[in-house]
Amino acid sequence: MKTNISALLHVLESSPIIPVIAIQKLEHAAPLASALADGGLPVIEVTLRTPAALQAIETIRKTVPEVTVGAGTILNPAQFQEAIEYGSQFIVSPGSTTALLEYGTTQDTPFLPGIQTVSELMTGIEAGYRVFKFFPAAISGGVAAIRSLQGPFADIRFCPTGGITADNVSDYLALENVICAGGTWLAPQAMVEAEDWQGITRLARDAVSRVTEPNN
Ligand code: 3PG
Repeated sequence: MKTNISALLHVLESSPIIPVIAIQKLEHAAPLASALADGGLPVIEVTLRTPAALQAIETIRKTVPEVTVGAGTILNPAQFQEAIEYGSQFIVSPGSTTALLEYGTTQDTPFLPGIQTVSELMTGIEAGYRVFKFFPAAISGGVAAIRSLQGPFADIRFCPTGGITADNVSDYLALENVICAGGTWLAPQAMVEAEDWQGITRLARDAVSRVTEPNN
């Protein structure tokens, strides 16, 4: 059994914030990924919520080499496999079914399973995982909930997503057991539609400055 914890940590430690993006038009994939990387966010999760998602991953992988691209909203092993075939460098699920947890241990590509409850977390730990997406973070107790998990699960680390914004991301990242945080606020659909890549680079820069400059 392998869970590639060091490979997963390597990806997640490369960026404190991971933009979660849904690509409606394939031609937006590369310029959006470049805009985010230019703003200091080189790790991107493309969600499998649109028909263009897999090709978007392939395009980013081939044409924006400075970006590490992962696949999100993976709900079953078939999607996991397909995402790898299109070049995903990491895999994210909002949850953690037995099938996904088992499948993840047979793959070289690192897997970040999602949990919301203590029992889901314990099931994931039993399966060999040590790093989890905490989703949906804000409505599941947010910063206070993740802080509470630190006592009983001292060696477990989280990437919270769901309800994270420019205004609260630094509160999450201040927690010792939070390795990075994800969210969709970095690529608002209206800005993507308007192809406002400079605006998206500015949003990314602002997010990075909020988590790296203590006075922000
Ligand atoms: C995810 O898949 O991680 C979430 O949809 C992100 O949630 P947000 O839109 O609240 O950032």
